Amino acid sequence: MMIKLFLIILVILQSKAYDTVKHVSNENTRPIIGILSQPTPYDWQKPNGTTYIAASYVKYVEATGAQVVPILMNQSIEYYSHLFNSINGVLFPGGDSTDEYLYVANLFYVWSLKQFDETQRVFPIWGTCLGFEVLLMLTRRSTDVLEPCKGYDFATELTFTPDAANSRLLGSSLPSSVKTSLENEPTTANYHNFCIRPENFTNDPVLSTFYKMLTISPDLEDRTFVSTMESRRYPIFGVQWHPEKNAFEWRVNTTIPHTKDAIDVMQYMANFFTNQTRQNTNHFDSLQDELKYLIYQYTPEFMGLDVSHFQQMYFFYK
Ligand SMILES: *[C@@H]1O[C@H](CO)[C@@H](O)[C@H](O)[C@H]1NC(C)=O
Ligand SMILES: *[C@@H]1O[C@H](CO)[C@@H](O)[C@H](O)[C@H]1NC(C)=O
Ligand SMILES: *[C@@H]1O[C@H](CO)[C@@H](O)[C@H](O)[C@H]1NC(C)=O
Ligand SMILES: *[C@@H]1O[C@H](CO)[C@@H](O)[C@H](O)[C@H]1NC(C)=O
Ligand SMILES: *[C@@H]1O[C@H](CO)[C@@H](O)[C@H](O)[C@H]1NC(C)=O
Repeated sequence: MMIKLFLIILVILQSKAYDTVKHVSNENTRPIIGILSQPTPYDWQKPNGTTYIAASYVKYVEATGAQVVPILMNQSIEYYSHLFNSINGVLFPGGDSTDEYLYVANLFYVWSLKQFDETQRVFPIWGTCLGFEVLLMLTRRSTDVLEPCKGYDFATELTFTPDAANSRLLGSSLPSSVKTSLENEPTTANYHNFCIRPENFTNDPVLSTFYKMLTISPDLEDRTFVSTMESRRYPIFGVQWHPEKNAFEWRVNTTIPHTKDAIDVMQYMANFFTNQTRQNTNHFDSLQDELKYLIYQYTPEFMGLDVSHFQQMYFFYK
């Protein structure tokens, strides 16, 4: 009898200790990341679907131990708000700017800031290329922040600013080997026709208060542009370059770096962001509800080696 009681107490104590540990680390081991879709770029692809996500972004996220939800265009506000409250972060991918993309990105951006300000709970956002540019527009509340820039189809190294050392993205969690690659080898793929110059960034009180400029890069005219940034306060990160292309895009005669070091750079960036989303504990109400939104109900299409920037694409709205 005594032994039984003792065992019961022991079990209760242990489960309490376990709860405490769980609560302290509070890590979401089932993160789900949303990726924005956008209008299909080429007419010949439109029969496949009017909006798309490049499969490289999906693989980039999946390889870090996160699942993907496509964020569809032209949906109700209830749909977007349900996703905001059910997933753990969002990735704004590269592409061609559209009103609808900006509208949807704005919803997640505003809700992420509001939630952090009111409850300190994070909803991480990562912007790549167009996504980086859209972050600048959303923060500046203006579409007039960029200038034309010769930045299309070249690879470059990054120059770290003094702020990089005490940043989350490029600070103490960045392995020194990855830092060495970023600073000394052309590991970053660039595909942009617009950019923001470092002086425009630092002279803008709104942008320079909101973001730290972490790296700059030279464009094809050897003029510098801001290539990496993170928010000073919020879990918001942006790269003008394309970390998702290194391992997953193989169109011939492009400048995408496929070296071992470039792959290490890519994997660091991807792992970094998913690690941020593990701090968000949202989940869908049920596995059935989760399954309605996960990307598995769609199948990526192979696009041919030489005709598309994207090896494989997910299409929506056939
Ligand atoms: C997508 O388009 C390609 C041609 O571009 C075609 O071969 C393929 O069957 C299409 N897939 C679907 C699901 O319509
Ligand atoms: C979204 O809706 C607008 C207006 O209803 C329409 O013009 C546009 O083609 C739709 N876009 C997509 C991707 O379905
Ligand atoms: C960037 O700054 C320069 C000079 O400081 C200015 O002439 C230019 O218009 C600015 N660019 C943008 C996009 O605001
Ligand atoms: C790639 O570039 C080389 C050299 O310019 C050219 O000979 C080759 O045809 C190109 N390949 C494709 C698939 O465009
Ligand atoms: C992962 O995120 C946690 C919480 O933000 C942080 O303490 C830790 O340093 C991160 N690890 C890496 C490798 O970024």
